[in-house]
Amino acid sequence: MKPLRGLYIRTYGCQMNVYDSDRMRDILAPLGYASVDAPELADLVVLNTCHIREKATEKVFSELGRLRKHKEASGERMRIVVAGCVAQAEGEEIMARQPAVDLVVGPQAYHRLPEMLARLSRKTGDRLEVDFDVVQKFDQLPAHRHVNGPSAFLSVQEGCDKFCTFCVVPYTRGAEHSRGTDAITAEARELVRAGAREVVLIGQNVNAWRGAAPAGSGDDTWGFGRLIRHISKIGGVDRLRYSTSHPRDMDDELIDAHAGVEALAPFLHLPVQSGSDRVLAAMNRKHTAKEYLEIIRQTRTARPDIAITSDFIVGFPGETEADFEATLQLVRDVRFSQAYAFKYSARPGTPAAGMPSQVDEVTKDRRLATLLALLRQQAFEFNSATVGKVLPVLFETRSGRDGLARGYSPYQQVVHAEIDPDMLGTMVDVEITSAGQASLQGRARLGAAHDRELDGVIE
Ligand code: SAH
Ligand code: SF4
Ligand code: F3S
Repeated sequence: MKPLRGLYIRTYGCQMNVYDSDRMRDILAPLGYASVDAPELADLVVLNTCHIREKATEKVFSELGRLRKHKEASGERMRIVVAGCVAQAEGEEIMARQPAVDLVVGPQAYHRLPEMLARLSRKTGDRLEVDFDVVQKFDQLPAHRHVNGPSAFLSVQEGCDKFCTFCVVPYTRGAEHSRGTDAITAEARELVRAGAREVVLIGQNVNAWRGAAPAGSGDDTWGFGRLIRHISKIGGVDRLRYSTSHPRDMDDELIDAHAGVEALAPFLHLPVQSGSDRVLAAMNRKHTAKEYLEIIRQTRTARPDIAITSDFIVGFPGETEADFEATLQLVRDVRFSQAYAFKYSARPGTPAAGMPSQVDEVTKDRRLATLLALLRQQAFEFNSATVGKVLPVLFETRSGRDGLARGYSPYQQVVHAEIDPDMLGTMVDVEITSAGQASLQGRARLGAAHDRELDGVIE
C-alpha cells in the first residue's frame, strides 16, 4: 500500500471541469491520493481553472497567492498544479508569474499527471503539458469511476469548432471530438454500478456529438438522439440529461427523443446569447432569432411541458438599445424556466475583443440588471406553475436549511422536502407546496420511491 496523501481540487468554470476534476481524482487514487477538506491539509492542490471571462482568470491568480503561503507553511512539501483552461491559455505566464506553481496541465493532457508528478520528484523533464491529445486521454483514463452523489456527469464530446467571436473555448479545448458509443456505454454502466441514478451527458457542444456506433450494430456512426435512446436503455439509468447544446445542432432525431424517451428529462439548456440578428451574426452564431424560436416551437410540440433555459451575453461590441430590446423580446416570446446572463468580457485573442464600439460598463450593468429582472420573474412564474403537482425528485443532499433534503425535479428545479434519511440518493414523488424564484418546497409522498419501468435493457 502506498501512503495516503491529501488531495485538494478546486474547480472553476463549467461542467466539463467538474467532470475533469472527478477524473483527476480517479487517476490519482491509485497513487494513494485521497480528498481532504481544505487546501492547507493537502499534499497536492489542483486548481482546475476557467478562462471564459476575465474575472475567472483573476480569481486563479489571487488563489495562487494564498496557496503560496500554505506551501511555505508546509515547508515546501505541498505541490501546486494548475489545470484547466487558464493553464491551456496562459501556462507560460502562470509559471513566470507564480513560481510556487509546480506543474501546469491542460484539459486534454491531465491523464499525464502521474508521470508529471514522478518527473517532479526526480526534478527532471517538462513541468508544462498542454498538448491536445483527447483520444489518448480517454483511452488512458481508468475505467473505475467514483461518484459524489446520485447524479453524475459523463463526458461524451469535447472541444468546439464553432468559433463564436467572443469565446475562448475553441482555443482552450481544441477541436470537436466525439467518443464512441461503446466507451460511453461502458462508462454509464460503471456510473450506475458506483451508485448513480441520473446520468448527465456533457460536452462543450454535446448535441454536435457524432460518434462510432456500437460494434456489431452494422452502423458506422450515430447522431446524438440515437445515443440518448441507447443510454436510456441501460438498467439503473433512471434519469438522463444532456448539456450544453448549440441551436445549430438541434436535429429532428434529438427533438424526437424528447417525445419518445421516458428517462430523458423534460429540460433543454439551449444558449442563444442574443435576440438580435445583427448581434447574432457578429457573434458568428450562424442562426437567427426566428430560427431559434422555431427550434423551441418544435421541441415544445414534442414535449409540451419541457423547461427551456439559456445563456445570454449583454453588451457585446456594437450592441444598441434596439438590439438589447430584441433580446428582451425573445425572452418574452420563449418564457424561460431559468437562465444565465453575463456581461460581455473581452478575451485576448478572440475576434470580438478587437471590434470597434465596445460597450461601456455602466450600460452593461444596466442591461444586465434589466435582463436578470425579467428572467427572475419568468423563473418565478415557471416554478409557481408547478405548485400542486407531484414530481419525481432525485434527492442529492441535506441542504442544512431546517434539516430538509435537497433534490432536483425533472425540470431541474431545486426542491426542498423532508424525507426519510434512507431516501437520500433515490427518486421520490413529491407534492410541490410552494415556489420561489430559485427553489420549490414540497411534501414527500409516503412510501413513494419512484421506479421507472424499463422498456428494454441493454445486455
Ligand atoms: N458551448 C456553449 C457555451 C459555452 S461557454 C454554447 O455555445 O452556447 C458558456 C457561456 O459563457 C456562453 O453560453 C456565454 O453565454 C458565456 N460566455 C462565453 N464567452 C463569454 C465572454 N467572452 N463574455 C461573456 N460571456 C461569455
Ligand atoms: Fe464557445 Fe461558441 Fe463554441 Fe459555445 S459554440 S463553446 S460559445 S465558441
Ligand atoms: Fe471555462 Fe473552459 Fe469550461 S473556459 S467554461 S472551464 S471549457
